[in-house]
Amino acid sequence: RFPGHGHGKGLAFGAIEPQHVDVDQLVVPDGYTWDPIIRWGDPILPGARTFDPNNQSPEQQAKQFGYNCDYLDILPFDAGDEHRGTRGLLVSNLEYTNASIMFPATEKYWETDADGNVTGDQNAYARAIERAAHGMAVVEVRRRAPGKPWTYQRISPVNRRIHMDTEFVIDGPAAGTDLMRTTADPTGTRVLGTMNNCAGGTTPWGTVLSGEENFNGYFVAAGANPTADARYGLGRSTSYNWEADDPRFGGGAGYENESNRFGWIVELDPHDPSAPPVKHTAMGRFKHEGANVTLSRRGHAVAYMGDDQAFDYIYKFVSKDRVAKGSSRWARAHNKTLLSEGDLYVAKLTGDSPATEIDGSGAVPSDGAFDGSGEWLPLVLDGASQVAGMSVEEVLIYTRLAADTVGATKMDRPEDVEISPVTGRIYVACTNNSGRTPGNGTEGATEPNPRDHKVQGGATINGNRDGHVVEIIPSGDQTSTRFAWNLLLVAGDPTVEGTYFAGYPRDRVSPISCPDNLAFDAEGNLWISTDGQPSSSGIAKCDGLFKVPVAGRERGHVQQFLSVPAGAETCGPVIDSRDGMVYVNVQHPGEDGTFDAPQSLFPDYIAEGARVEAGDFRGPRPTVVQVYRGRGNGHGHGNGHGN
Ligand code: FEO
Ligand code: CA
Ligand code: CA
Ligand code: CA
Repeated sequence: RFPGHGHGKGLAFGAIEPQHVDVDQLVVPDGYTWDPIIRWGDPILPGARTFDPNNQSPEQQAKQFGYNCDYLDILPFDAGDEHRGTRGLLVSNLEYTNASIMFPATEKYWETDADGNVTGDQNAYARAIERAAHGMAVVEVRRRAPGKPWTYQRISPVNRRIHMDTEFVIDGPAAGTDLMRTTADPTGTRVLGTMNNCAGGTTPWGTVLSGEENFNGYFVAAGANPTADARYGLGRSTSYNWEADDPRFGGGAGYENESNRFGWIVELDPHDPSAPPVKHTAMGRFKHEGANVTLSRRGHAVAYMGDDQAFDYIYKFVSKDRVAKGSSRWARAHNKTLLSEGDLYVAKLTGDSPATEIDGSGAVPSDGAFDGSGEWLPLVLDGASQVAGMSVEEVLIYTRLAADTVGATKMDRPEDVEISPVTGRIYVACTNNSGRTPGNGTEGATEPNPRDHKVQGGATINGNRDGHVVEIIPSGDQTSTRFAWNLLLVAGDPTVEGTYFAGYPRDRVSPISCPDNLAFDAEGNLWISTDGQPSSSGIAKCDGLFKVPVAGRERGHVQQFLSVPAGAETCGPVIDSRDGMVYVNVQHPGEDGTFDAPQSLFPDYIAEGARVEAGDFRGPRPTVVQVYRGRGNGHGHGNGHGN
């Protein structure tokens, strides 16, 4: 029907070789090529000038694509359309900032000591730029035909930047309660900004959900609830030091509750540039990696969510109301209320093998699988708290404390949770947990988290440094509170005993470590992007994107599709097997370098001494990348200039 739409071929590719950690290239399979769609600093709003990394300002950054893109989707331009066609809406999270590679070492951006030398602390001007670089972006994209590369539109009525000065609505049962009020917002229903927006999900009704993850890194503990401060990791100071600029980050008088207004799931309607984004308190407050929504048979919205911390939990939300079909104005308005009221659960996973067979080494139990049964334990049901001694608003604001008391299962950093569009099975990326150290005050290996820190045969096994992927099989409908579970993957170097690829021959898979973001293609294959292969794992290769079938004889056959440049993490994969295209966000390339001594030159790749074209940068830029069929051997060149 159109170029790039192979007949039943989908995204055929030959697995690439894992790349050494120093390889500063984006490597894709033979027959594919890549281009940036949009990079940090590219102008997207009226008044934005061509990016000049030596002369950034808070005003310019607020009109540019921000830093450290994470969740990504490209939606059909018109609400209600099913396919992306030739006009799309690119929506991206902008998770956090890396000051040392964003700003040159000059006194314009850095504090100076008595001798006039710049110190390691960014100054108030740089901090204001950082606040403008956080958040989200919506950008119109166009292309000649499906399967062809997109170009972003520098000027479009739908282009939008969400940052720390953007006004949000707070809704749901905790909105307006005492714990949500501040001096600046005595109503407890309005808040400025979002931060650390990590993964997300696109809802069946066409909005985008975004997880506020490590919000604790931006607020000084107020001290009003020391138990909660400790459980959420709020400390006495922050490395961002925004408390020096605005009292709401300092936890002082009048702002004791400001940090309670972060750590939520945000819903953004990219089709309505005038609609304020919403923080949904009904979905609980924790270090939200993201949220993905499917529909129950009767049309309830069912969201699955991970709390990305070692020994934290997997959650599920079920909406009270049911989805309205179609894309009428009424239906769209109704569906945007679905996440405002409903039931909240946390997962308990029980293994079915004897504890003696779970020895922490990752050896598969004698029944052939890490598997068992599970249940969703209610925290809020029909508007009532199910947790003794906690009100509904307390359960929703201090969700971790509520989940602790009901006996939820401590997981190894649950990140993205994704639902198969083909089978309805749910997949959870547990990225790693080096702290699972029995005898040291922490829980040891369990069947759903089967590796811990131990000395075995003279070798030290450093906990679960490589992570695993859990498969959850609902008992019937998505609203069921019962499920079965098993581990699809126990990741790592496949030559090492204790790695497991759903029984697939280990000598035929790509090595994979630290699974983070998940996506499905239309055929029901799972795609996994990784975060941390170089630093924390036994693989020491660049992070990448991997495909793994989850059904049939190919179940467990992990194959690497791409590798990201030095220092980068692979985020936000979008797999469009119909168009034969793959999209990734390349986050924090060259994160260990500095502005003046870059570790990565991705994606502009300006040679030393070469002239730098206007808008380019001889240094790393977090970038939205598109991969498509084309000539070249996987070394595309940046042309990501909007028009
Ligand atoms: Fe921002 Fe859990 O990764
Ligand atoms: Ca078992
Ligand atoms: Ca992540
Ligand atoms: Ca991660």
